[in-house]
Amino acid sequence: MARLKIAVLISGRGSNMQALIEACSTEDAPAEIALVLSNVPDAAGLKFAEQNGIPTVTIDHRKFSERDSFEQKISSCLVDAKIELVCLAGFMRLLTAGFVDTWRDRLINIHPSLLPAFKGLDTHARVIAEGARFSGCTVHFVRSEMDSGPIIIQAAVPVALDDDADSLARRVLEAEHRIYPQALRLIAEGRVTVDNDLVRIEGARTPASSVINPDIGLEGQNPAPTTFTAMETRNHGD
Ligand code: GAR
Repeated sequence: MARLKIAVLISGRGSNMQALIEACSTEDAPAEIALVLSNVPDAAGLKFAEQNGIPTVTIDHRKFSERDSFEQKISSCLVDAKIELVCLAGFMRLLTAGFVDTWRDRLINIHPSLLPAFKGLDTHARVIAEGARFSGCTVHFVRSEMDSGPIIIQAAVPVALDDDADSLARRVLEAEHRIYPQALRLIAEGRVTVDNDLVRIEGARTPASSVINPDIGLEGQNPAPTTFTAMETRNHGD
């Protein structure tokens, strides 16, 4: 079967891009990274892509007086490379409704929080300032409002009592590197549909148990009544 042609858009380090490239490097991968595009000429991620034989292109937003013409240039590169799915991976430019609508349901993003909580920048510092017990990360289809759109997959990451923004960011990033390749695989295998702006996933299960943070050593002593089953929870996949 033909592999889904992917473009990854980056602005910097590109560690999520790297996770996607590595996930697509196996023979049975259902997707191929056909293009890495950066708006920052010296983005560190470009080097990794080049070393792995992936075509790269830089479209420097500072050379465009209008956001529209910058985005049109991106779109024409994507079309020329016959891209079928665009993955934003630390691409730090807001995209206009025009671009987002052109690529509707073919444009996904990763954000380092459990959306819809903590949209925007400085996520980890804000999570800690709020005293949240869990953070995490989300892969979602992109809509024109910032960090919004139908959610494909999330990982919950417990916030440690002694976490600072950097230590939390490191653990969330590890989870990002796990879920982004999984989201890509689900889409490339044709298992994802968007229905009424909610994502349905064929053949996916919901983990059975909840996670409590902090763990005060009482789990098992006072088991919760089993008044519902996984089947009764809202789960589009089952
Ligand atoms: C990642 O943590 C990603 O979730 C975040 O930027 C980082 C890029 O790291 N994206 C956003 O905040 C988008 N709203 P990377 O370049 O190493 O993948």
